[in-house]
Amino acid sequence: MDIPRSFLEELKNSKKIVFFTGAGISAESGIPTFRGEGGIWNKLKPEELANFNAFLRNPDLVWEWYQYRRKIINETKPNPGHLAIVEFENYFDVTVVTQNVDNLHRRAGSKKIYELHGNIEKNYCINCKKRFDDVDFSNFEKNVPKCDSCGGLIRPDVVWFGEFLPEDQFEASEKAARECDILFAVGTSAVVYPAANIPYIAKRNGAVLVEINLERTDLSNYANFSFLGKSGEILPEILRAFLNYRKL
Ligand code: OAD
Repeated sequence: MDIPRSFLEELKNSKKIVFFTGAGISAESGIPTFRGEGGIWNKLKPEELANFNAFLRNPDLVWEWYQYRRKIINETKPNPGHLAIVEFENYFDVTVVTQNVDNLHRRAGSKKIYELHGNIEKNYCINCKKRFDDVDFSNFEKNVPKCDSCGGLIRPDVVWFGEFLPEDQFEASEKAARECDILFAVGTSAVVYPAANIPYIAKRNGAVLVEINLERTDLSNYANFSFLGKSGEILPEILRAFLNYRKL
């Protein structure tokens, strides 16, 4: 892969980096993406599985789907893309802003992570909002569990269509985007808002925008540098090239 010298020079002069990640970074771990080839939303309808009214209409179905996804996620592990981002921390002030709910950045070892769409391992009661983050619900395969305080339905702590993003996570992400020198948009179709604003905020505030994706997206025309291919290959390659370049 051709890594331009001008890009390596920008990287060398940078202190703060934001990695804005989407489902594509976890694809090489074996977790299906939402759009594109093999995407979840090609086969299933988001309005039947990822919105609050669907959950009220058919809580067991939605719960079962999330239990299935949790099972897939639990059986995976971080890939070289996640691990390269952790290694960047040795040389830069790194913030990960992720749309993923799969926890793989944390399991890889990234320290500063903002989760814009929640975390599939966490749960809370829709009535009294009691949290059930460390409770093992693996026995509840097909039936949604009920809150032990008020009897309300327990839901996964993920953002569904039509819901607000967690305010603290979004504000912190916006701030990181405003202040960074480089933002890498990795494995995201960048079509789901407001999360997809993050790369534009960085660019408007003077950051260099770098895209890593299998294919071109809406962001490609705004990106200063675009690397087409698998993030699990490109991110380690960029890191290697940077380490060689800074020795020169
Ligand atoms: P998408 O599924 O929309 O897009 C995944 C992107 O990753 C696509 O642009 C692919 O080309 C790219 N891709 C796939 N494999 C890759 C690889 N190995 N290396 C690099 N790129 C790769 O996923 P998101 O953009 O994350 O929302 O989707 C945004 C939101 O839509 C998700 O957070 C989810 C979904 O509905 C909620 O759950 C609220």
